[in-house]
Amino acid sequence: TATETKNLRTPIVCVMGHVDHGKTSLLDKIRGTTVVDKEAGAITQHIGATEVPLGTIKAMCGNMMAASVVIPGLLFIDTPGHHAFTTLRSRGGALADLAVLVVDITEGFQPQTIEAIKILRQFKTPFVVAANKIDKIQGWAPSPNSPFIKSFTGQPDYVKAAIETKTYELVGKLSDLGFSSDRYDRIRDFTRNVGIVPISAKTGEGIPDLLMVLIGLAQKFLEDSLRMTVTGPGVGTVLEVKEERGLGFTIDAIIYDGVIKVGDTIVIGGKEKPFTTKVRALLKPKPNREIRVEERFDRVSRLTAAAGVKILAPGLENAMAGSPLRVATEENKETVLKEIEGEMEKARIVTDETGIMIKADTLGSLEAIVNELRGAGIKVAMAEVGDISKKDIINAETLPEAMDRVILGFNVQILAETKEYLQASDIKVFTNDVIYRLIEDYEKWQKAQKD
Ligand code: GTP
Ligand code: MG
Repeated sequence: TATETKNLRTPIVCVMGHVDHGKTSLLDKIRGTTVVDKEAGAITQHIGATEVPLGTIKAMCGNMMAASVVIPGLLFIDTPGHHAFTTLRSRGGALADLAVLVVDITEGFQPQTIEAIKILRQFKTPFVVAANKIDKIQGWAPSPNSPFIKSFTGQPDYVKAAIETKTYELVGKLSDLGFSSDRYDRIRDFTRNVGIVPISAKTGEGIPDLLMVLIGLAQKFLEDSLRMTVTGPGVGTVLEVKEERGLGFTIDAIIYDGVIKVGDTIVIGGKEKPFTTKVRALLKPKPNREIRVEERFDRVSRLTAAAGVKILAPGLENAMAGSPLRVATEENKETVLKEIEGEMEKARIVTDETGIMIKADTLGSLEAIVNELRGAGIKVAMAEVGDISKKDIINAETLPEAMDRVILGFNVQILAETKEYLQASDIKVFTNDVIYRLIEDYEKWQKAQKD
């Protein structure tokens, strides 16, 4: 019936893998976008989301795809590969129904490839391996956007041999980690074997094959899943809190289960504690657009999982990026508040007795920086989400060690009122929108101070 089609669940596909192996490039190729070119430091530092409609996928697969496919499309989640973002990767992994593990075929398995596989194994997430950058294999003759097998057949023998060798290296590594795998065209049962699809995110070769395998997994997932249709209250996660011109404070969220409607009461984690508010508007990014960078949205009155959405509601300036989000009723509101408070408590960062202060734009990036610093033997006494305020300077001034009177700000602003106050204080502030540069700057300064 019409309601059933309307509520059919869009599977969530998480794209994971080692830094620079080509996750965002692959999504760019599928979407027809250039998000990669706009990323600070040329790395991904946030979770992203893009809805790719079935039509786009069909257009890329051509006659390779079976006619019986009924899914509405796929919601792709982009994750950072940089080693600092472990929490964001496991959050992405936890959200995923399916995954694409991107491996640079010329580099093979790297530390975050293995980390990603462990996450997928933990959550029992079916996945396909995209063996990317085949165009970098010596002698590869590209034929843009063609299916892998077609391109492969036309290659010289030594190129074919190189691809085979590299593919079997991946098979070996997967086997070490407990997965049976093979090149996708040699697999019949994708529930028992992991398919490896050689692709190039640059030339588009192999992407039709990858999407075909993925749609197969998605179709199977929906058939097996009790969650084929969604009807319950919306459940999601807040990606970012943003002030938008003309709209005020908004949140970007992924709704991974249930339904959310304009007028619904939602519970979100806040800076101090969880709070409730009423959804004033739901803005959906255009299909094939990354919610992280998109500026044009469609207003909708209701939304079913899985979807990325920008939400307008009063009081969102207090929302905490990285917190859970749930639709509640008048009756269960108090219980949901308590549950979210419990979840936020678990996510709270444990600080040291002494150390420096960290401010970051989201819970995920805050955790990433704190973990990086700890790894480098640097202590953190205060860690919070949000811009750098006068209150932060005052707090930092209370730090007993002169060397600790430092604030590292990742992707945050120094508020105007703070700047003047800051000049009169002895607090050193570093800000950057690239995680490793921020830490490098601080370490350089720390070394100079010691010498
Ligand atoms: P993080 O998000 O930071 O983990 O990186 P990523 O996995 O998203 O990699 P990204 O898409 O940013 O690509 C990294 C670099 O590899 C960029 O310079 C891309 O242009 C390049 N690249 C990606 N895919 C291919 C490919 O298939 N062939 C070639 N030759 N280069 C590629
Ligand atoms: Mg990326």
